[in-house]
Amino acid sequence: MLRTHDCGKLRSEDLGKRVTLAGWVRFRRDHGGVLFFDLADSNGTTQLVFDPEALRQEIDRKSLSETLNSLGREYVVQATGVVRERVPGTEDPRNPTGMVEVLIERANVLSTSKAIPFEVAEQKNSQLPNEDLRIRYRYLDLRRPQMISNLRFRARLFAATRDALNGMGFMEVETPMLTRSTAEGARDFLVPSRIQPGHFYALPQSPQLFKQMLMVGSVERYFQFARCFRDEDSRADRQPEFTQMDVEMSFVEERDVHEVVEKVLASVWKCIYNEELRTPFPRLPYHDSMARFGTDAPDTRFGLELVEVTEIARQAHYEIFQKVLAKKGTVVVCMNLKASLVKEKDQEFAGVGRKEVDRLIDWAKQQGMGGLTWMRCTPTGLESNIVKYFPDEVRRKLQERMGAEVGDLLLFLAGPRMPTLKAGGALRMKLARDNALLEGKGHHFVWIVDCPLFQADPVTGKLSAFHHPFVRPVEDDLPKSGDMAKVMGQSYDLVLDGSEIGSGSIRNHDPKVQRKVFKHLGMSEEAIEREFSFFLEALEFGAPPHGGIALGMDRVVSILLGCESIRDVIAFPKNKKFQSLVDGSPAKVDQSKLQELMLISIAEEDKEAE
Ligand code: AMO
Repeated sequence: MLRTHDCGKLRSEDLGKRVTLAGWVRFRRDHGGVLFFDLADSNGTTQLVFDPEALRQEIDRKSLSETLNSLGREYVVQATGVVRERVPGTEDPRNPTGMVEVLIERANVLSTSKAIPFEVAEQKNSQLPNEDLRIRYRYLDLRRPQMISNLRFRARLFAATRDALNGMGFMEVETPMLTRSTAEGARDFLVPSRIQPGHFYALPQSPQLFKQMLMVGSVERYFQFARCFRDEDSRADRQPEFTQMDVEMSFVEERDVHEVVEKVLASVWKCIYNEELRTPFPRLPYHDSMARFGTDAPDTRFGLELVEVTEIARQAHYEIFQKVLAKKGTVVVCMNLKASLVKEKDQEFAGVGRKEVDRLIDWAKQQGMGGLTWMRCTPTGLESNIVKYFPDEVRRKLQERMGAEVGDLLLFLAGPRMPTLKAGGALRMKLARDNALLEGKGHHFVWIVDCPLFQADPVTGKLSAFHHPFVRPVEDDLPKSGDMAKVMGQSYDLVLDGSEIGSGSIRNHDPKVQRKVFKHLGMSEEAIEREFSFFLEALEFGAPPHGGIALGMDRVVSILLGCESIRDVIAFPKNKKFQSLVDGSPAKVDQSKLQELMLISIAEEDKEAE
């Protein structure tokens, strides 16, 4: 080794030892000929000092001084010296090595560095350079202690997950990266074949069909940290390539899969936090989740639930509600921002002043809602600018239904059911953020169960898969007739703190049922044969009943670390435009490479260049 200790190791017990360290020069200060350096590696930072007065005679001070004076930011240096106490008053108790320093006797430049484009010492998030620059120079960004610690946490979480699954008898199996393009949800990334011109592989959106074929192959308990590739729109919790903890099991029912996931997470929790995770996780039917939280990925760490008050609202003489409710499929939902939830009590009501309420109304309009109606609860009952349209009896019912107490603020949204619930869900999260309702709340897992098998397009009525096409109907088969949008599927999502971290189902092991599902999804016989005959055939060779799940590991890691985006827990992520700035991809390729693949580019700029 080029060092005796790493840069985070030395303590007072090491005083007097001659040590050799290697790392990056982070800071440098000159105090009248005495030079101080912070030498850093991924383990920590140690202060080095060049103090000519304190050095023994035989050391060539001049040459050492020259070397040290030549050191620039982020040079890689090997330094040998003796550990000594810091001068009293200059200790840094926040740094584990902060009681000592190393008096340099020898230094050796291992590598020089160009001028760095941004500061890599730890700094507040607000002082970070823009994210594109960080991604462009990711190898420098990774030197920041926060980023290294994110990667380290990720590695620990993966190791603990793998250990737990191995301990439960799961077999790690790799599935192909070059696969067939099938209609699974998102767009595929295609890979042209040179040997079969005009033919393409697709990078897997997930190993779904392969893990099911592993069940046919008697693997029984499979897992894999699977890289998945999806060409979809960018979001903070989405990357075009990401990692799933992918699991599949034979001879199981829904609860068995849940139990395995709960056991794995409990084991990970114990390993990482040394805490018991409360299992089983609560199970919330999909329709209840929509009605109470306005989303299928509810943040259950705080209350402020939506309550449907359509029937009470109908009794008011309030024109806005009347107009909305005259149409079919409309609702009025209400939320009670309780005074006790809000920290600043000196405001007008529920910590929310009139101006703030106006801002909420504007916000609701931006969400596509007509507006937002409010009432506050006073000692004499509900009050607001429109309360005169609500007879006493209606007000009393509302107050009772919402459990409103003095100081509380009721907020109402009215409109078509789904958009109104969704806007209510978004309002709930906004209020939680604005009023710091999430602070110190820990983590909440919840299963979303009892999901529909299909969803119908509100305009065309065309069915699409609610999860994916391989979910088994609850009755094990599809009804011969009737409204298919009402058929339930044996699928489930796992939600953590308001983010969907996993999704899975029991599958159609019966090829006849699988075919029917494809047909209801609008696939012709020909399309089914073309895209899925290989898979349907596999199911014809004695497929065991099976089911599984995949957890989005990037999301899990980023939620547990409190990151704003999954990009912060991926070593080399794509930016918001899904570009990999560190290697400049996607990029043009030589014409000769395209020719070899029998491809021509019809992109406008390529046509012009010709
Ligand atoms: P699904 O498509 O729901 O299910 O994906 C499972 C989980 O993967 C995560 N995820 C993503 N993470 C980052 N970037 C993305 N673009 C992205 N897309 C999805 C989410 C999601 O819950 N084959 C099925 C699983 C199964 O049925 O077993 C599947 O892939 O956390």
